[in-house]
Amino acid sequence: MKVSMVNLGKKYEGRENFTIRGINLEIEDKSFCVILGPSGCGKSTLLRMVAGLNSITEGELYFGDRLINKVEPKDRDIAMVFQSYALYPHMTVYDNIAFSLKMRKERKQVIHHRVMEAAKVLQLEEYLYSKPSDISGGQRQRVALGRAMVRKPQVFLMDEPLSNLDAKLREQMRIELVRLHKRLETTSIYVTHDQAEAMTMADRIVLLDQGKIQQNGAPSDLYNRPANLFVAKFIGSPTINIFHGKIDHDLFTSDSGQVKIRLNEKDTEAVKEHQGKDVYVGIRSERFIPGTQLTDGIAAIEATIDVIENLGKEQSLVVKLPDQTELVMTMPGHLQFGMDEAHTFGIDPNALHIFDGETEERLN
Ligand SMILES: Nc1ncnc2c1ncn2[C@@H]1O[C@H](COP(=O)(O)OP(=O)(O)O)[C@@H](O)[C@H]1O
Ligand SMILES: [Mg+2]
Repeated sequence: MKVSMVNLGKKYEGRENFTIRGINLEIEDKSFCVILGPSGCGKSTLLRMVAGLNSITEGELYFGDRLINKVEPKDRDIAMVFQSYALYPHMTVYDNIAFSLKMRKERKQVIHHRVMEAAKVLQLEEYLYSKPSDISGGQRQRVALGRAMVRKPQVFLMDEPLSNLDAKLREQMRIELVRLHKRLETTSIYVTHDQAEAMTMADRIVLLDQGKIQQNGAPSDLYNRPANLFVAKFIGSPTINIFHGKIDHDLFTSDSGQVKIRLNEKDTEAVKEHQGKDVYVGIRSERFIPGTQLTDGIAAIEATIDVIENLGKEQSLVVKLPDQTELVMTMPGHLQFGMDEAHTFGIDPNALHIFDGETEERLN
């Protein structure tokens, strides 16, 4: 089922301002859409509007071609999984999964078939007659998913369902959820504040900040062509390096004068209206070039190595420029670097993200 939002907005009673506003979004049938953003930006508010748990202050919400604004939650054919998934402690896994179907007075045979099907997909067959207290956190989370799945909803809503799990389990569950989605092909809307989770799981990421969509696109779009400075900083780990400075024709000079980068032709053309104006230039950690590979015409910077984090296949270097600017660079693991050493690094001229100094919108 396709889900469409037209100018959707929410103002909570007693609040002065809208919590979210002007949300225009089309979520394709069968896709996995992740709503991403910092805490308090309005992710749960939006999801709860889709679920019917929050009223809609303005705009329209459609499932397919059907206007849903005033439809009761129980008639929306959705299922929702929350961060805190309360299972019934006195019931077996089987009964927990079957619960909503029993409430709807489904036939016993249908219930059994659906529970067994969910248990198989979620690898819970062995635990069907265990109580929640006798299984692990990850298994309990899968029971919560199973409970939502058996209803065969048109739209599957998940609000930070993995946040309570430890890091390793979270990674496993990410993969399981993606697999599950591939099998079920149910349109899914998944809320998280974790950019890594969004990058690995989503067909499409909708990045929210302060109740507005900052960018809506494939994970690689947000990483490679962030629409503004906020998106550039929110997506990616380590965080993107940002220089502030001015443009003069095809030369960017940082405020301290220590970093000078010659722009390529395309970027020069893109910033030609910004002569003498403030800009931000972003470069991701993996786009610095080791000194040994430097060629003519590439901007070089001198930096002192402050911290080395070696992960084996790669290493993160925290380096300091003479003006004390800190940068993070990712270098192949086999290269030799020592603490407090001075090194020369190059800046790939085709890897720059340039943003307007005032509006912070992307220029190139
Ligand atoms: N029921 C409510 N009444 C009033 N304000 C609310 C209510 N629920 C959430 N808010 C406010 O709306 C903003 C967004 O909250 P929320 O949607 O929960 O953010 P997120 O899920 O992105 O962390 C917050 O400032 C929060 O305090
Ligand atoms: Mg929330």
